Amino acid sequence: MATVLEVHDLEKHFGGVVAAHNINVTVEEGETIGIIGANGAGKTTFVNMVTGYLAPSGGTIDFMGRSLLGLHPRDVTRLGVCRSFQVPQVFLSETVFDNMLMAYGIAEDRGWRLFAPIHTDERADRVQAHLERFQIADYRDVTAEALPQGVRKLLDIAMATVGNPKLVMLDEPTSGISAEEKFGLMDVIMQAMREEDCTVMFIEHDMEIVERFVDRVWAFYQGEIICDAPTADAMNDAGVREFVIGQEYHPAHADGETDA
Ligand SMILES: Nc1ncnc2c1ncn2[C@@H]1O[C@H](COP(=O)(O)OP(=O)(O)OP(=O)(O)O)[C@@H](O)[C@H]1O
Ligand SMILES: [Mg+2]
Repeated sequence: MATVLEVHDLEKHFGGVVAAHNINVTVEEGETIGIIGANGAGKTTFVNMVTGYLAPSGGTIDFMGRSLLGLHPRDVTRLGVCRSFQVPQVFLSETVFDNMLMAYGIAEDRGWRLFAPIHTDERADRVQAHLERFQIADYRDVTAEALPQGVRKLLDIAMATVGNPKLVMLDEPTSGISAEEKFGLMDVIMQAMREEDCTVMFIEHDMEIVERFVDRVWAFYQGEIICDAPTADAMNDAGVREFVIGQEYHPAHADGETDA
């Protein structure tokens, strides 16, 4: 199996705040990683460093054997690493279809025409297929501001992933979504990502979602990864229970068993 992402000795300091310390991780093709940790633990900082939005204070980040250090976010995207943000980045006054066309243009890097929807048959076909994959094709002519929250979230992630990424990093894909809707939303996202052969990493606060959708967990605490383990093991790890998920949480596999 190919190594997609390799991170060594990653550090990020904001003045006296240590947002990342001694981060060493490897991601293999096809894995699904869940990033957990309390508010301020350093989860978004990690994603920001991999995707070129923040320069690390030290360490290395290699994607498919190539260093990402010093690259502009646009160039990281072009290499095949895409991300979504904690807050959806959609154009509220545009239709779903035009939002997707613009995202596709940005992924393809159309220079000055970046923020205009550019219609070609090839692009329209790709956008339509992607909307269908995300089960939001029925909304294609609806403006983003009129969308139900869950659909807007799907649009945001569909936009982030329209450029055929190899590695997708999602920052809290279920935030702002009701408990009843979360599982259905994640089913759609993960199915779409599987169909596109993406390796996926997502930040998540809901441990039931983590247990259902993730193979491996990275638990962040004060800028460090205190546990990198298969999901069931991580849910039963003493440090994770003390510093991240709380003793009162009962994992689906309390004894560390798996379904396999
Ligand atoms: N641009 C910045 N300037 C200064 N401090 C920052 C900056 N970005 C993050 N930090 C600090 O770094 C630490 C980690 O922040 P980060 O946003 O990565 O946390 P997080 O785990 O994503 O939290 P949340 O669950 O609240 O999104 C926090 O102490 C935060 O205040
Ligand atoms: Mg965050």
